Amino acid sequence: MIRFLLNAVEHQVENTDPSTLLLAYLRDHLGKTGTKEGCASGDCGACTVVLGELFAGELRYRAINACITPLGSIHGRQLITVEDLKQGPVLHAVQQAMVDHHGSQCGFCTPGFVMSMFAHLKTHDSPDREEILESLGGNLCRCTGYRPIVDAAVHMYDPATADTFSEQQVETIAALEDIAADETEIELSHSGRRYIAPRTIASLAKTLQDNPDARLVAGATDLALEITQGLKEIETLVFTGRVPELLCCDDQGDKLLIGAAVSFSDCKDLLCSSWPQLKELIERLGSLQIRNQGTLGGNVGNASPIGDMPPVLLALQASLVLRRGEASRVIPVEDFYLSYKVTALQPGEFIERIEIPKPTQGDWLQAYKVSKRLEDDISAVCGAFNLRIVDGKVAAAVIAFGGMAEIPKRAGQCEQALLGQPWLQSTIDAAMAALQQDFTPIDDFRASADYRMQIACNLLQRAFLAHTLPPSQLQVTEYA
Ligand SMILES: Cc1cc2nc3c(=O)[nH]c(=O)nc-3n(C[C@H](O)[C@H](O)[C@H](O)COP(=O)(O)OP(=O)(O)OC[C@H]3O[C@@H](n4cnc5c(N)ncnc54)[C@H](O)[C@@H]3O)c2cc1C
Ligand code: FES
Ligand code: FES
Repeated sequence: MIRFLLNAVEHQVENTDPSTLLLAYLRDHLGKTGTKEGCASGDCGACTVVLGELFAGELRYRAINACITPLGSIHGRQLITVEDLKQGPVLHAVQQAMVDHHGSQCGFCTPGFVMSMFAHLKTHDSPDREEILESLGGNLCRCTGYRPIVDAAVHMYDPATADTFSEQQVETIAALEDIAADETEIELSHSGRRYIAPRTIASLAKTLQDNPDARLVAGATDLALEITQGLKEIETLVFTGRVPELLCCDDQGDKLLIGAAVSFSDCKDLLCSSWPQLKELIERLGSLQIRNQGTLGGNVGNASPIGDMPPVLLALQASLVLRRGEASRVIPVEDFYLSYKVTALQPGEFIERIEIPKPTQGDWLQAYKVSKRLEDDISAVCGAFNLRIVDGKVAAAVIAFGGMAEIPKRAGQCEQALLGQPWLQSTIDAAMAALQQDFTPIDDFRASADYRMQIACNLLQRAFLAHTLPPSQLQVTEYA
């Protein structure tokens, strides 16, 4: 059985197909059709709902895409849908702002926008245009145009009135604490399919040993697409998001430890505390909804050649702590990827955490993503450059790319062409020539092979300029 709050009232689910996604449950089982299906793949935001969850004893709200959320993963949370906002005849401040600023035409995208705005309002004290744009980056509108919607978001703060969610906060926290205190292991099963959510690492390890064909699921932002787009039937899903070790997010002095089930939204600040340059890359990974759900462990475990974080982790020489039964081993991220979508994981083995050595003095990291759209788009090429220049010479160079090979991969020849050489344009020219030996990229619908190679060379050039020129001389124009 799973338990969650449907707005203010506890709701329990059993005897339901465990591969049911939250959107289908809302619309088909509960008749709550306010939440829309646009793409069923996390791209359009029409299905945005808000989850309230306990965090450090407080309630925090996050927007997610219901179309790619397994029903089981909302156990222990408060689910708020667009139907919950209006109180009797009175529109919520967010809805009223949309009316006042003409933020809706056909209305299909509107519930999703309203829920993203609602989550933003509940987590920000005052309007900030950049932050509003970030919150709305995962919502698409085909007819209104975005200016009236952004205007509505800016003005939803006037008048700043408390809503029922604030008024009921104490009761909501008490109800969520009651569910959290329930030690029972969560399992949903129906028609031969199972969803299991272990609470301890030992139980997770045993579940996987007993069910070596089970699929691990964290944020489901990759895996759910196998269900909604690939129409796959997955017999056993094992959720990682309740195991404390997989939710750790610690600075250990010389390294960062990030549990495999930590979402991007939850590890962004820790990563940026050591590498502020990663902020832009992380904020371009999917949309806010995707970053609220998707995890670093899922990004690594998915083994996509175009995932954004593997090149960064390669460049930072990160390691993975893998666990199988009682046994743990540590391997460099570099040894994890074997061939297209094939990893070093043994049957029943899983990623427990990612360990990233912190920079030492003089280390300099840059990571760049090139994609067709600025927001909510997968990379054509992603390059990460970890360099140390001492006395005008390259003392260390670890460079990795995504989108250039069947796995995320280091550029060994390019690194060798840089090492020990003077940090000059002539060295970069030689390193660009060496880069051509490292990779034989492919043509696909994201980019041609020639374009990929050109971009990889250009990113190296850009890293050189970023290191060499004062920021005022480095003018970069972003095309959305
Ligand atoms: C609209 C959209 C936009 C996206 N944009 C980007 C983008 O810009 N950049 C990018 O890199 N990705 C992007 N993605 C892909 C996805 O969001 C990321 O790869 C994310 O990090 C996956 O994490 P998750 O927790 O959702 O993984 P899940 O979907 O839960 O799992 C992914 C895979 O990893 C495995 N796995 C999960 N946890 C573990 C573990 N502990 N040990 C071993 N294996 C495990 C699962 O079995 C599965 O095979 C996007 C996805 C969508 C839907
Ligand atoms: S329906 Fe498009 S993001 Fe969910
Ligand atoms: S109002 Fe029609 S899609 Fe946004």
